[in-house]
Amino acid sequence: MLVTGHTGFKGAWLTLWLRSLGADVTGLSGPPPTAPSLFELARVGELCADRRGDVRDADAVLQAVRAARPEVVFHLAAQSIVRASLDDPAGTYETNVLGTAHVLGAAGDAAVVCVTSDKCYAPGDRPHREGDPLGGRDPYSASKAAQELVAAAHREALGGRVATARAGNVIGGGDWARDRLLPDLVRARDSGEPVVLRHPDAVRPWQHVLGPLAGYLLLAERLAGSPEFASAWNFGPAGTDARPVRWIVDRVRERWPLDVRTDPPREDVEAPALRLDASAARERLGWAPRLDLPAALDATVSWHDQVRAGADARTVTLTQIEEAA
Ligand SMILES: NC(=O)c1ccc[n+]([C@@H]2O[C@H](COP(=O)([O-])OP(=O)(O)OC[C@H]3O[C@@H](n4cnc5c(N)ncnc54)[C@H](O)[C@@H]3O)[C@@H](O)[C@H]2O)c1
Repeated sequence: MLVTGHTGFKGAWLTLWLRSLGADVTGLSGPPPTAPSLFELARVGELCADRRGDVRDADAVLQAVRAARPEVVFHLAAQSIVRASLDDPAGTYETNVLGTAHVLGAAGDAAVVCVTSDKCYAPGDRPHREGDPLGGRDPYSASKAAQELVAAAHREALGGRVATARAGNVIGGGDWARDRLLPDLVRARDSGEPVVLRHPDAVRPWQHVLGPLAGYLLLAERLAGSPEFASAWNFGPAGTDARPVRWIVDRVRERWPLDVRTDPPREDVEAPALRLDASAARERLGWAPRLDLPAALDATVSWHDQVRAGADARTVTLTQIEEAA
């Protein structure tokens, strides 16, 4: 298996899960995007062939694929932060769009699960289905919509066995990314500084990282067996788990003392509500989210409490994988 983005939040969880299933994993990524990181704390580099390379470099991607000779490629490497994409739109497109073209171009006959985002859709009122129009009102979202187009063209014109996976607002232990809600709450708890909510009423389909990762694994298995699964798939929680930011913060405050402030409302690119319809994945792949939202929040808070108290991050993560698998 080849996992791009294995030094990131989801890639580190995925690499640990694949290794616990006995898979050989090669990782191709830049450095861990945060300090601390799950990758470092759980010593994920010891468990895989840990290659460092830039997906914007076609030759580096080709060399990694040649070395790994993978049956399956999980492509997660990305500039993954909306606000960073406002500062560097071109860099975001280079990594997310050109990088995807390089990965698909190098993958040959391998099945590719290409991870995009629920943000690839044009804003709409009802839960998004896979056939809905693509869009994106900020560079990150547009890059994820473009990644979808690149994958579809590769599949349709070049015969590549590629599926895309659209999920969003993933939570779980070991995420310290900037400008994401749960990592902001973790930092606020650790520092005692106030946490400022920018969009308290924004509704998001929150889900534990193990939900979409279970979807990527199922999709890879089906895709390796049959090209009929080479299409786009939503992985989202039950409708009741699409909740406003404020609801999440109130639940976490029951466990952690947090000083919460709210920015004055302002116009910007954040959509007020975003929901996914994952019925295709449920019906055709037999997928279901692993944890409902209260359980997902509990697992996330517990992960950080245990690691802060000195528990080994790899053990805590593998235990949560085993409990939810
Ligand atoms: N975490 C979420 O809530 C979420 C939601 C929707 C979609 N996604 C998507 O899931 C994937 C993984 O997200 P994450 O949260 O783990 O992101 P992350 O920021 O934690 O990790 C990103 C990974 O990509 C690598 N990377 C970045 N630029 C690179 C480059 N030019 N060349 C090689 N590697 C590079 C980093 O080194 C890191 O390993 C991304 O494609 C992201 O867009 C994440």
